[in-house]
Amino acid sequence: MEVLVVGGGGREHALAWKLAASRRVERVWVAPGNPGTAGESKVENVAIAADDVDGLVEFAATRRIDLTVVGPEAPLVAGIADRLTAEGRLCFGPSASAARLEGSKSFAKSFLVRHGIPTAGYETFDRLAPAADYVRSRGAPIVIKADGLASGKGVTVARTVDQAVAALEAALRDEAFGAAGERVVVEDFLEGEEASFICLVDHDRVVPFPSSKDYKTRDEGDAGPNTGGMGAHSPAPVLTAALHERVMQGIIGPTVRGMAAEGAPFTGFLYVGLMVGRDGTARVLEFNVRSGDPETQPVLMRLRSDLAELCRAASAGRLESGAAEWDPRAALGVVLAAEGYPGPVRRGDRILGLDEELPDTRVFHAGTAHDAGGRVVTAGGRVLCVCGAGRDLAAARDRAYLRVDRIDWPGRFFRSDIGRCAMPG
Ligand code: AMP
Ligand code: GLY
Repeated sequence: MEVLVVGGGGREHALAWKLAASRRVERVWVAPGNPGTAGESKVENVAIAADDVDGLVEFAATRRIDLTVVGPEAPLVAGIADRLTAEGRLCFGPSASAARLEGSKSFAKSFLVRHGIPTAGYETFDRLAPAADYVRSRGAPIVIKADGLASGKGVTVARTVDQAVAALEAALRDEAFGAAGERVVVEDFLEGEEASFICLVDHDRVVPFPSSKDYKTRDEGDAGPNTGGMGAHSPAPVLTAALHERVMQGIIGPTVRGMAAEGAPFTGFLYVGLMVGRDGTARVLEFNVRSGDPETQPVLMRLRSDLAELCRAASAGRLESGAAEWDPRAALGVVLAAEGYPGPVRRGDRILGLDEELPDTRVFHAGTAHDAGGRVVTAGGRVLCVCGAGRDLAAARDRAYLRVDRIDWPGRFFRSDIGRCAMPG
């Protein structure tokens, strides 16, 4: 198989690495990839942007790509799966119509309500005055979400009514999110612990990944601004075996059957962000129509099955439910970020220590580049995701941080508490 991976972050590095490990795969192209993907055997980068749908479709045709696996959401929402499928090519990713689960929060919320799937109460608004009145009547904390894709910046968890009104003004009056914020979802605040539930889906057939959890804020103790994710681990102890079963029956099942019943059957990675309340009930915070970043990196460290076969089977409508084998050990990833992240960052710093290997660890690249001399330098906010595996989360964590200590550049920072809240004591 010739495989194309769309994207260039840590998630795509992990996907390309696992896809290339398949005996059935001759080559994995990554568009645009990064120095990490370029360094994997059987993997080659191609300079096409992840949102250049025309360029990607043309490349797939020219190279006779057998399977395309899409990392980020934007090309999916823009219809890359529909385009490839129309040309008779296998694509592991949802149609534009199914990608509305992530592309439109108001669609996702009304879908959840239509299918009786537990989620926070909400209202949708496209005018400021009624939205502000609603917020004042509900009080804070309350959550304001831009309807469309806003690069992870469209959600405000407002602690006060003033903050909530400011978020409404930014979206509905000042057009801070452009068209993505012309409509907003105002949602009740949910308390509890978050976890990520990711599955491979082919219509109503589902292969769940082991549970995972990401750490969204920049600073230790879940403080500071939100980021794309500063670390992740698998499993997430909050998702007990009993809760996993309830999520499969009460959330995943109704979602995939509901999408099929509405004429938009889902194929691809389905990511459900869950809030697990103190009473043990899980509610849906969000859908993503792609795998998580950084959750994918530790989760794929645990995959023993052939990812290329799984994705091909699913894209061809032949996935077998539950057909994957996992390493029972835990895995944990720590994101190393560049100074300034999540704001504008320093770039071009040479990264030291990348070649110092350590058993049971793996370094996935995200914001890296080659300089003129072919050396790896920083080129983005989240630079690397350093993963470790071990018999339990504590062992995986120790392994990951041991490798973290060997990698350095000026301004590098990371959270030292990834996994800590998941461990007793
Ligand atoms: P989303 O992009 O919808 O996942 O929102 C980003 C983050 O905002 C989530 O990971 C949560 O930490 C938080 N969040 C979203 N919705 C809620 C909610 N209803 N209650 C509490 N926190 C929320
Ligand atoms: N880690 C959360 C996300 O990928 O959106």
